[in-house]
Amino acid sequence: GSDKEAALLEGEAAVAKLREERAASAAAASSGANGGGDGAGAGEGDQEGGDGFNFKSKSQFADSMRAKAAAGSTTGASEFSKTKTISEQRKFLPVFRVRDDLMRCIADNQVVVITGETGSGKTTQLTQYLREEGYTKFGRIGCTQPRRVAAMSVAARVAEEVGCRLGDEVGYSIRFEDVTSEKTVIKYMTDGVLLRESLRDPDLDSYSCVVMDEAHERSLNTDVLFGVMREVLKRRSDLRLIVTSATLDSKKFQDFFGGAPIFAIPGRTFPVRLEYARSVPDDHVDAAVRKILQIHMTMPPGDILVFMTGQEDIEATCGIVAQRALKLEDCPPLLVLPMYSQLPADLQTKIFERADEGVRKCIVSTNIAETSLTVDGIVYVVDTGFCKLKVYNPKIGMDALQVTPVSQANANQRKGRAGRTQPGVCFRLYTERAFYDEMLVSNIPEIQRTNLSNVVLLLKSLGVDSLLDFAFMDPPPQDTILESLYQLWVLGAIDNLGALTPDGRKMVEFPLEPSLAKMVIVAEKLGCSDEVATVVSMLSVPQVFYRPKDREEESDAAREKFFVPESDHLTLLNVYKQWERHAHAASWCTEHFVHAKALRKAREVREQLLDIMRQQHIVLTACADGAWDVVRKAICSSYFVNAAKIKGIGEYVNMLTGIAANLHPSSSLFGLGYTPDYVVYNELVLTSKEYMMCVTAVDGEWLAELGPMFFELRAQGAEGGRSAKRMREARELESMKREAEFQKELDQARAL
Ligand code: CDP
Ligand code: MG
Repeated sequence: GSDKEAALLEGEAAVAKLREERAASAAAASSGANGGGDGAGAGEGDQEGGDGFNFKSKSQFADSMRAKAAAGSTTGASEFSKTKTISEQRKFLPVFRVRDDLMRCIADNQVVVITGETGSGKTTQLTQYLREEGYTKFGRIGCTQPRRVAAMSVAARVAEEVGCRLGDEVGYSIRFEDVTSEKTVIKYMTDGVLLRESLRDPDLDSYSCVVMDEAHERSLNTDVLFGVMREVLKRRSDLRLIVTSATLDSKKFQDFFGGAPIFAIPGRTFPVRLEYARSVPDDHVDAAVRKILQIHMTMPPGDILVFMTGQEDIEATCGIVAQRALKLEDCPPLLVLPMYSQLPADLQTKIFERADEGVRKCIVSTNIAETSLTVDGIVYVVDTGFCKLKVYNPKIGMDALQVTPVSQANANQRKGRAGRTQPGVCFRLYTERAFYDEMLVSNIPEIQRTNLSNVVLLLKSLGVDSLLDFAFMDPPPQDTILESLYQLWVLGAIDNLGALTPDGRKMVEFPLEPSLAKMVIVAEKLGCSDEVATVVSMLSVPQVFYRPKDREEESDAAREKFFVPESDHLTLLNVYKQWERHAHAASWCTEHFVHAKALRKAREVREQLLDIMRQQHIVLTACADGAWDVVRKAICSSYFVNAAKIKGIGEYVNMLTGIAANLHPSSSLFGLGYTPDYVVYNELVLTSKEYMMCVTAVDGEWLAELGPMFFELRAQGAEGGRSAKRMREARELESMKREAEFQKELDQARAL
């Protein structure tokens, strides 16, 4: 026993040490990244998140691209870009050599599937070719991207190539950010934006061509768009659809679109040598760190691209590498750069910049660098074999980001990044056996692993009555559809027969999670739509509070001053109100450790929500100053499914699932003298414990009033009552499912 214990302890100590080292280095890395922070700008925007480039950073982005072109580097492609103008660069891309054949193919076919190596020019060139061919005479050319960052950065690049201002002929549109104008003929957008546009414009009449880019990613919205597009194409014989895919699973797209031709852009790639690990590493950060340093110390020049899981591990890796490199004797200069979607835009563009002469660049990235972004000069790839995937667990009705092994297709894509400009090497930090025996051949499409409430609501309003019969390329699990229907029913968006309710119809109009849209609608009835619009906007932007590494206490104290003890949501509202009161001053933000950028973004989002509310004739009303109880009630109306009851100090349990839910130390409710009996929360995050994020205290009566299908008012003492309630809930779910089945039968009967 005790030997084992000692060993265990030792193991724990080792892990603890590693964690410490990681934490320390992550701190070093991030302060390094923000280092030399220029006063007001310092600390701003490092949570810019998915919202990426603002106008300033957009031009920074363009600048850095120009700098790259002007400066060149030691690798072939950049040497090339050093001496060539943009139009010459365009002619050098693989897609250029097949331009005319490709355009003929598109003229002759309504749908064309295009494959080609990453970097062959699909994303940046196709739209321009189509424009040159005159397709924009009849409508816009739309190009969808699964990622916001890609939509923005590619639009910036194409605007530069076309020689226009971003937002003129070339623009982009992502949720809550539309940089297009009357003039725009080439529009990059997220797939979600086009899907929403199909609500207004079911035949997509404003487009002459749609390019569905990065289709191999099989994002949820891309998959839904496939089904929608297939119908639109039937009605509009003049519309052209181009589906591009980096990998070779194009056959599936071809079949889905009734045998559309596949046009392969001949690649220009160099051989990549593969090296597998001999054993499975204990820790992928540690393994990656060692490999990076080994490459750096022993192998010929050439930049390194490392595929890591997520932000935390990326920062840790960067930090540890930098630290250890400092300690190594005779270590040549190494520039270590992180890359993930939450990274501020100006730091993202750094990966495209040329390192100084004799300096090796090492980029540590999420799978965003797999196909969406192309960095020149990579010779070595280090693949941990993992990525973070959003996985939906229908049992607890929750999406969670999970570290998951990548598929063979991803691994091969990663490997390919080493051979773009010269022969390269790919180091896989897993065994050859793991590759063949443990990895899936290709990814499970998002549609089969995430919550579908949003999609279901959208399809319902597109008139798709029976989701079980919608033309999905890969249908989602029936359970997930039923669960989503159930969630929508609980929120009052659909009725017992699965038809949209008037509230549901309004909810679709908001580009928000159904629960947040519901909050806005209920708020009107409660007379606090003004406040709720702010709460929802604040929830839609990345991190509001700024907590610099060396000033934790000071910033925590500043944050606590904003606390509204009953609610994290109201705390956010409070921050926004105070910011307004201080004339939106950036200096006020710096002083109070809040991100000015996040607040400005919230204000933009709020303006857009107010627009939609106006269109929907939702009256804007504010409650009396500080009388915010009704706001909590509105919050309760959309999150009562996440109701939790107190169990101990800071400890709650979800009333429907029985899952433990703890107050997070950063919550306004944490460390209060009293803890409310009932709370609702936005989401549960699993780290060392199950933590509730964004919590609001609610009254028991509200739960009974707003969630009558789950809760009822009872006298004291009630274990039996609760289980009765749960039984009732199970019954409701069953009957709901039966009705959905029934509906399917009905539809089938009708079809006969
Ligand atoms: O879509 P695909 O991977 O086929 O290629 P692309 O994204 O159109 O990239 C074509 C070329 O443009 C590559 O050499 C990229 O490095 C370059 N590019 C760039 O310099 N800046 C961007 N924001 C996007 C692409
Ligand atoms: Mg591309």
